[in-house]
Amino acid sequence: MSRLSAQGRIFFAVLGIALILVILMGLQDRPQREITPFTVPTATPEPAVVEEEASPVEVVDEPATAEEEVAPEEATPEEELVPAEEEAEGTESRASFFFAVLPSTPPIPEDNPQTPEKEELGKMLYFEPRLSQSSVIACSTCHNLGLGGTDRIPTSLGHDFQTGGRNAPTVLNAAFFNQQFWDGRAASLEEQAQGPIQAGVEMAMPADMAVERIKGIAGYLPYFQAAFPGEEDPITFDNIAKAIAAFERTLITPNDPLDRYLLGDDDALSPLAKKGMETFEAVNCVACHNGPMLSSGLLMRFRHGEDPGRMTVTGDPADEFLFRVPTLRNLPLTSPYFHDGSAATIEEAINTMANVQLNRELTPEEVEAISAFLNSLVGEQPQVTVPILPAN
Ligand code: HEC
Ligand code: HEC
Repeated sequence: MSRLSAQGRIFFAVLGIALILVILMGLQDRPQREITPFTVPTATPEPAVVEEEASPVEVVDEPATAEEEVAPEEATPEEELVPAEEEAEGTESRASFFFAVLPSTPPIPEDNPQTPEKEELGKMLYFEPRLSQSSVIACSTCHNLGLGGTDRIPTSLGHDFQTGGRNAPTVLNAAFFNQQFWDGRAASLEEQAQGPIQAGVEMAMPADMAVERIKGIAGYLPYFQAAFPGEEDPITFDNIAKAIAAFERTLITPNDPLDRYLLGDDDALSPLAKKGMETFEAVNCVACHNGPMLSSGLLMRFRHGEDPGRMTVTGDPADEFLFRVPTLRNLPLTSPYFHDGSAATIEEAINTMANVQLNRELTPEEVEAISAFLNSLVGEQPQVTVPILPAN
C-alpha cells in the first residue's frame, strides 16, 4: 500500500479530485470503505484548519455508530488534508480521510495576540502556587509538564486535599479545542483559566484576592507592563487568564509518528501500529476520534459511572452523560483515562470504548494493534524551562 506506480498515483489523484468534488456537491455521507485512506495523493493540499466556533457548545446526541457522524461539520476532508507548508522535503504526503497533521501553532484569538513577553508571564503564572489560597497549588500541580500535562492520578486533589471527582485532562494541545473541560463548559483557554483559580476544590482563590496577591508581589509589575503595554493597571484577573492562555498556546506537540507517517515517512509507524490504525478506522473509532487531535471536539454520550457530564452544567436531562471527546495525542503519557480516571491502561480504555461506544467486543489481536497505534502518538514535547518567580 505504500508505494504506488505512476499510473496508480494518477488514478488515485483523479479519484481524490473526484471525491472532493462529490463532497463539495453537498454529499453528507463520507465514503468510508471504498477508498483506500492514506494513499490518495492530493493535487492541492489545503492547510488543516481548526475553526473558531461562534457557539461555545456543540452537542451531538446520539452515540455514533452511524456513518454520517464520521463527518462532523467542522472536519470536512478538505480541512483534514496535510498542510502544504509542513511537508517535509523529498517526501510524499498522504491525505487521510480521518486524521490530519497536528499544526505547530494553534488558532490565536484576536483579542489576545501572542507575544514573547506574554508567554513568559503566562509561564510564571502557570507555575505560581501563590495564585491559590493555600499558596501551594499551581496549575502545574495538576497539569505537570513532566507528566504529559496531567497529574497521573485518577481524580485530581485540590485545595485541602478535596477531590473534584474528575481526571485532569492534559493541557498539551488543549489550545486546539474550542470547548474546554470534560463537559465543554468553557469556550476558550482564557475563560477556562479563570475556573480553577476560583474553584473551591482546586485553588480556592476568589478573583479579587488573586489579583491582590499578585499585586502584593512587587516583582510582577514589570512583567505585566511588558506583556500588556500601554495599560494603566495591567494586573487584572482577565490579564492573568490571558497570559496563562498565551503560555498554554505554546504547549503543542507536533511531529509524532502518525504525523510523520502522514507527511510521507512510511517507516514512522511500525507495521503493528499501521494495522492498529486500520483497525481503528474499520471498527469506527474514527466516528469520534478524528482530525488533527484525534477528537471531533464534540460532546458525545458516554454512559459510564455516576457523573452526568454536561447535565451538571445545564441541568437538562437531555445532556446527561455528554462528555467532550478527548484528544488521543500523547495518550501514553496521560493515564489513567476517562473523566473519572477509571481506566488504568490504554488496553482497558480501548475495550471499554468498543463495548460502550460501539457495542462490540474486540479480539485481543485487535486491541493489541490499536494499542500499538495509540502508543505511537507521542509528539515532540514543549521544552519548558522552569521560570524563576519574583520572591516579593
Ligand atoms: C487541583 C487540580 C487542578 C488545578 C490546580 C488546575 N487544574 Fe486544570 N483541570 C483539572 C481538572 C480535574 C480538570 C477537568 C475538570 C472538568 O472537566 O470538570 C481540568 C481541566 C483543565 C483544562 C481543560 C482541558 C481540556 O482538554 O478540556 C485546562 C486547559 C486546564 N485545566 C488548565 C488549567 C490551568 C491554566 C490551571 C491554573 C490556572 C489549572 N488548570 C489548574 C485539575 C486542575
Ligand atoms: C461515540 C463516540 C466515540 C467513539 C465511537 C469512540 N470514542 Fe473514545 N471517547 C469518546 C468520549 C466521549 C470519550 C471521553 C469519555 C469520558 O467521559 O471519560 C472517549 C475517550 C477515549 C479514550 C480515553 C482518553 C483519555 O484521555 O481519557 C480512549 C483511549 C478512547 N476514547 C479510544 C477509543 C477507541 C480505541 C475507540 C474505538 C474502539 C473509541 N474511542 C471510540 C467518544 C468515542
